[in-house]
Parts: sequence; C-alpha cells; structure tokens
Amino acid sequence: MNIDILLGLQWGDEGKGKIVDVLTPDYDIVARFQGGPNAGHTIEFHGVKHVLHLIPSGIFHDDKINIIGNGLVIDPVVFRHEVESLGIDIGKVRERLLISLKAHLIMPTHKLLDAAHEASLGEAKIGSTLRGIGPAYTDKASRNGLRVGDLFRKDFREFYHSRVNDHLRTLQGYGYTSDLKALEDEWFDAVEYLKQFRTVNADYHIDQALRAGKRVLAEGAQGTMLDIDFGTYPYVTSSNTVAAGACTGLGIAPGRTGEVFGIFKAYCTRVGSGPFPTELDDADGQQMRDQGNEYGATTGRPRRCGWLDLPALKYAIMVNGVTRLFMMKADVLSGFSEIKVCNSYAVDGREQAELPYCLYDISGLNYRTFRGWHCDITGCRSWEELPQELKDYIRYIEDETGVPVTIVSVGPDRSATITR
Ligand code: GDP
Ligand code: IMO
Ligand code: MG
Repeated sequence: MNIDILLGLQWGDEGKGKIVDVLTPDYDIVARFQGGPNAGHTIEFHGVKHVLHLIPSGIFHDDKINIIGNGLVIDPVVFRHEVESLGIDIGKVRERLLISLKAHLIMPTHKLLDAAHEASLGEAKIGSTLRGIGPAYTDKASRNGLRVGDLFRKDFREFYHSRVNDHLRTLQGYGYTSDLKALEDEWFDAVEYLKQFRTVNADYHIDQALRAGKRVLAEGAQGTMLDIDFGTYPYVTSSNTVAAGACTGLGIAPGRTGEVFGIFKAYCTRVGSGPFPTELDDADGQQMRDQGNEYGATTGRPRRCGWLDLPALKYAIMVNGVTRLFMMKADVLSGFSEIKVCNSYAVDGREQAELPYCLYDISGLNYRTFRGWHCDITGCRSWEELPQELKDYIRYIEDETGVPVTIVSVGPDRSATITR
C-alpha cells in the first residue's frame, strides 16, 4: 500500500483537522508529519468542538492508530494538557497513540527564546505563535536537539541542563532574565506523563503496516505558503509543510506516496505577519472574518482575510503534486453579491501568473468576478443541492488548476461535507 497525504495549500487553518477526522474511517493509521503546538486543528461533532495541537486528528475514532512522527517538535506540557482535555479515557488514548522516538522536544527555554527573538525583531516580527517552534527546529538543525528517545537515558537531566545552559547564554544576550524553576518543574512532570505513552520507531512501524496492507493517511500542519523553503520566507514556520515533508517527517520513501489531498478555503486567510497579496482591509474582509469566525484556533488572533489567490494555489498544487482538491468553508461566501478570484499579478508593470520571488514585489492584482449566491448552503449534503453560482466558481477553479475538487465543505461539523 501507499501512504496518502493531506495538507494545506494556503497559509494554514484551511480545515485540515475537520477533513482528517472525516476521512479517518477509510484508514487504519493517521500520522502527523511536522509542526508542533503552533498548529490548531479543529474537529466538530455531536455539537462539541475539539482543538488538537499535537495529536493527530484521527484520535476520536475507535480502533485507529495515531502516530506523532519524527518530523514534529513536541512540548510535553502541551501534550499533557491536550490528552487530558480530549474527553477520552486515558487507557484508550494510550492504545490509539504512538510517538516517534525520533521526534524532538520543545524545552521551556525554547519558548523564552522564541519570545526574546520576536521582541528583538520589533516591526519585522514573524508573528510566531510563541510556542517555541523556531528555536526547537534550530536546535534540531544544529544537532543540539533533545529527542523523545533521550527521555529514557539515565543521564537525561544532565543532557537537558547542558542544552539549557547554552540557551541561557543566548537569553542573556537578549537581556532576558527569568526564573526557570516553576517552568522546569511543570516540564519534568509532563515528561514523566509523556513517558507512559507508547514510543516507537515510527518509520519501521509504518513500513510494517504498509506491508501488511494497512492504509495510512499523513496529516500535515500549517500550509504550503508557510513552508520553510517554498513559503513567503522569512514569514514562515520552521518546517517543510509540503508533501515532501511527509517523507522526511515519517520515514516514507517518495515512491511509496499515493494520493495528495490539497485543502484550500474558498477564500484566503493568514494569521501573523508577512505578504498576503489578496488581503482585504474593507467590509468584505470583515464579512469573511465574521461569517467564517476567522480567529486563530491556537492564539485567538483575528485572521487576515482576502479573496482566493489562484497563482498561489497553482504554485502549491505544483510543489505538492496535488491529485485532489478539497474546498473548505464554501458556506462562508454565502451572501456576497460578487465573489472574486485573483488570476494574475502585476509585477514591474507586467502581468504574470507565476509567484514572484518576493510577494511584496506585486504591485497589482487582476481579478475575475463571479456572481454570488444568497441562500444558506450549510444544510446541503449533495452536489446537486448546491447553488449554480457556487458550482460555476468550483468548475472555474478545476479548469484553471486541472485538478478535480472532490470534497466541498459547507460547515464546521463532520456531517457538513459533500463528497463528489
Ligand atoms: P486547520 O488548522 O487546517 O485544521 O483549521 P483550523 O481548525 O485552524 O481552522 C478551520 C476553522 O474553520 C475551524 O474553526 C473549523 O471548525 C472551521 N471549519 C472547517 N470547515 C468549515 C466549513 O466548511 N465551514 C465553516 N463555516 N467552518 C469550517
Ligand atoms: P495549522 O496547522 C496558521 C504561522 C504563525 C506565524 C508563522 C510562524 O493550524 O494550520 P511559528 O509559531 O510556527 O513560528 O509561527 O506561522 N502559523 C500558523 N498559521 N495555522 C497554523 O497551523 C500555523 N502555525 C504557524 O501565525 O505567522
Ligand atoms: Mg489551525
């Protein structure tokens, strides 16, 4: 069997959590491949809303295995809090969840370093979630990271303190002094908690599962435009959010990947700093924020909103090799008299359909306008029930991208999902 990959094509928060939960019945294993507690993946069913940060979005299904892959950075404190707020018996969570020994750990000082670094950037700040993501991946790349497997070393505390001493020197350079005692006590308690869970060589585990004919779904975090290589650098996260990240974040050979499901909102949002060509600072943007409840699932920050950006979407489809598109939050566009799609940019006075090296170089946007629809579509459960205006909009996206839109999501609940 091959592993299917599901990932975001925009700036995150496309609705990955919801769709992974919807697709989980078709799989045996759901495996997160990158990111950390910067992610906030929302799932709604039976009138209850759950937000996951580290735990894969298949966790609410019985008899499914969820894997936290080597590509993640795990904060044990967030992990503990998340498990305790799942509303699932801990014994069951332990049965359903496996953690890669090769995943990296976020230490209390990583969060302090994140805050110190962001503060030092002033106006140029990234708008990080301040969860310690950048510093933890920095330590991984510079070969100074702590991994889950290290928790079982006898000299773990000494190993930990050698890393902390380096961090404290850097923090002093930023003029930071902080009493770590309370943070460390909480962290070490959470580490003991985490050690009760099953830790595995996830690479071998997935290999054996695939050989046994099991179906595996890889779950991405963030989105393609936040990828460390292909996103709007430096306003990005610190991991590879693209399909290739599923290979390095789980130990999957490229030839063993199957479908690539690309998720996008019917419009665009971004939280944090950085270029956003189609951003709207007007009543339409506010209407998207209000109707779409566009406030961050992790930080509660208002999300910036704008029209769909086709050049960016096509770029994301290209770098990921997307085989199927899933359109999310189509219901949020109900009530707009006109719906716009940016189909090319003006750069140096010339029209271009490719993303320029720097998105700040875009001086103009060319839009195509579609007629809106005024009915409520949140109750629709089949393609036939959708208004013609929305079908026209979707067909245009399919024609332009050459990729079929096979799921249309019309509300946050599991059930508000139309499969074509
Ligand atoms: P993720 O990070 O990609 O998992 O997405 P988030 O959970 O951060 O943000 C998506 C938000 O939109 C959540 O509040 C979801 O409950 C909600 N949502 C998902 N799909 C739909 C949809 O089709 N319509 C509406 N109105 N909300 C949706
Ligand atoms: P999910 O998985 C949206 C953004 C932050 C910031 C930048 C860097 O829920 O889609 P970081 O904390 O990674 O150093 O922040 O990336 N960001 C996200 N935006 N959704 C996310 O995750 C995000 N994770 C990080 O706002 O601009
Ligand atoms: Mg999110």
